[in-house]
Amino acid sequence: MARAIQALVFFIIVLCAQGANSAVFTVRNNCRFTVWLGALTASNSAPLPTTGAELRPGYATSFTAPFKWSGRMWGRTGCRTDASGRFFCSTGDCGSGQIPCNGAGGAPPASLAEFTLNSDAGGKDFYDTSLVDGFNVPIGIRPVARGCSASVCAADINSRCPPELQVKGPMGIVVACKSACLAFNDDRHCCRGAFGSPQTCTPTNYSQIFKSACPQSYSYAFDDASISHATIFTIKNNCPFTVWLGTLAGSSSAALPTTGAELPPGHAISFISPFKWSGRMWGRTGCSTDSSCRFSCATGDCGSGQIPCNGAGGSPPASLSEFTLNSAADGKDFYDTNLVDGFNVPVGITPVAGGCDSTVCAADMNCRCPPELQVKAPGGNVVACKSACLAFNDDWHCCRGAFGSPESCTPMNYSEIFKAACPQSYTHAFDDASSTFTCPGSNYAVNFCPQKSTLTYQLML
Ligand SMILES: *[C@@H]1O[C@H](CO)[C@@H](O)[C@H](O)[C@H]1NC(C)=O
Ligand SMILES: *[C@@H]1O[C@H](CO)[C@@H](O)[C@H](O)[C@H]1NC(C)=O
Repeated sequence: MARAIQALVFFIIVLCAQGANSAVFTVRNNCRFTVWLGALTASNSAPLPTTGAELRPGYATSFTAPFKWSGRMWGRTGCRTDASGRFFCSTGDCGSGQIPCNGAGGAPPASLAEFTLNSDAGGKDFYDTSLVDGFNVPIGIRPVARGCSASVCAADINSRCPPELQVKGPMGIVVACKSACLAFNDDRHCCRGAFGSPQTCTPTNYSQIFKSACPQSYSYAFDDASISHATIFTIKNNCPFTVWLGTLAGSSSAALPTTGAELPPGHAISFISPFKWSGRMWGRTGCSTDSSCRFSCATGDCGSGQIPCNGAGGSPPASLSEFTLNSAADGKDFYDTNLVDGFNVPVGITPVAGGCDSTVCAADMNCRCPPELQVKAPGGNVVACKSACLAFNDDWHCCRGAFGSPESCTPMNYSEIFKAACPQSYTHAFDDASSTFTCPGSNYAVNFCPQKSTLTYQLML
C-alpha cells in the first residue's frame, strides 16, 4: 500500500513573459492524483485572478498575473469536503473551508513556488522553489523565455523523510515532510537569534536531506547563494574507456566540491558550483596506481599522486573546458573548450538552459595529429596531440613577443589542423571571436566523447 505517491509525481508551473507588463502562468498537475493549487499574493501586490483551483491528473489552468505581482503558489493534497460541507486538505490546507484560499496561506509543510515579477530597475523576474517550511509534493518552475533556468524539485522527499519530520495521513502514509525548523522550532534550525545571519546559519544534517534531494530548491533561510546563483554541473563520460575528471578553480574562486573523480564508461557525476566559480575541467586518461600506491595518468596528470587533484592543474596536452560563472554586473556565464595547449580527449559543454549554445569538440584529434605533435604511450599509440606552442615553444607559435597581439598572431598551419577538427574550440591564444560562448545563467553538462555514435574512438595503451 504505502508510497502510492512516489515518482509518478510532478507539478509544474510555467511562467511565460508576455510583453513588458504581464506574465502568463500555466499551472499543470502531472501527478497521478488530484492536486489543488493554492495561491497567496504578497501584501504589497495586486492579487492573482485565482487563489485556488482543483487540478485533476493531467489538468492545467492558466491565468495572467498583474504587473509586479509577487507571491507564492503551492499544491494541496488529500482534499475533500466533510459532512458539514467544509473543504479541507491533508497537506497545504489554507483553512478557508473552500477551494479558493481567499487571501490565506497554506499550512506548512508545503513545497512552495515563489515569485517576484518585474522587480528592480531592470524589470527582472525572481523565482525559486522553497522547502524551508518542508515538502508535500514535487514542484517545478519552468520559464518559457529562452535562456532562463528552471527551478525543479522532482524528488519525492516523503519517501526519504526521517521519522521525526514525517507528517502522516489517515492511512499512516507519509504525506508531507516537515523542515527541522517546523519540527523543532529552535534558533539553530530556524536561523533566528544567534543563528540569524548568513554567516551563522549554515546547513544542518536535516536541511542537507532536502538539499541533496532537491539541489535547486531553498532548504533553509539563508540558502540564497546556492539557489539564486546555483550552477549544477553534470559531467558524463561517453567514451568507451575510463576518464578521470580533473578540476582546478581560478585563483580568485572557491574550489568545486570535487577536484577529481573516476568516471567509468557511461558514468556521470553532478555537483553544485560555488557562486561566481571560475576555473577549468579536463579529462585524464590511461591512469593507474603504481606499486608504491601512487596514482598517475598518461595524459592530463595533475601530479597529486591521488585521484583528487587538490589544487593542481593538469599537465598539457589536455582538452580543457573553461568557465567563468555569474561574471560581471549582469551575472552572465562565459565558457569555452580550449585546445591551446593541445588535445587528449573529445569534450563538449552543453548548457541546459534553452537559447544557449553548446561548444563541442567531438573529433578525435589523436587520429589526425602530425608526427611532430604526437604524444605516444609506451605501446606506440597516440594518446594526445600537443599544440605547436607546446611542441616548439617559440614566439610565433605561442603568440608571444612580436606575435603577442591579435593582429600579429594569426592562425598557422598547425592551429588550423585543430580548428578544422574542432571549429568551436580555442586553437590559439587570440581565437576569442569564434570560441567564447555566453549564457545568461544555466546548469551545464560536460561530456567526454560527446556524440558517441559518430566516434570510433579507442584508447589503447
Ligand atoms: C542530526 O543531528 C542531531 C544532533 O547532532 C542528531 O540528534 C540527529 O539524529 C541527526 N539527524 C539525522 C537525520 O541525521
Ligand atoms: C607548417 O609550416 C612549417 C613552416 O612553414 C613547415 O615546416 C611544417 O612542415 C608545416 N606543418 C604542417 C603540418 O603543415
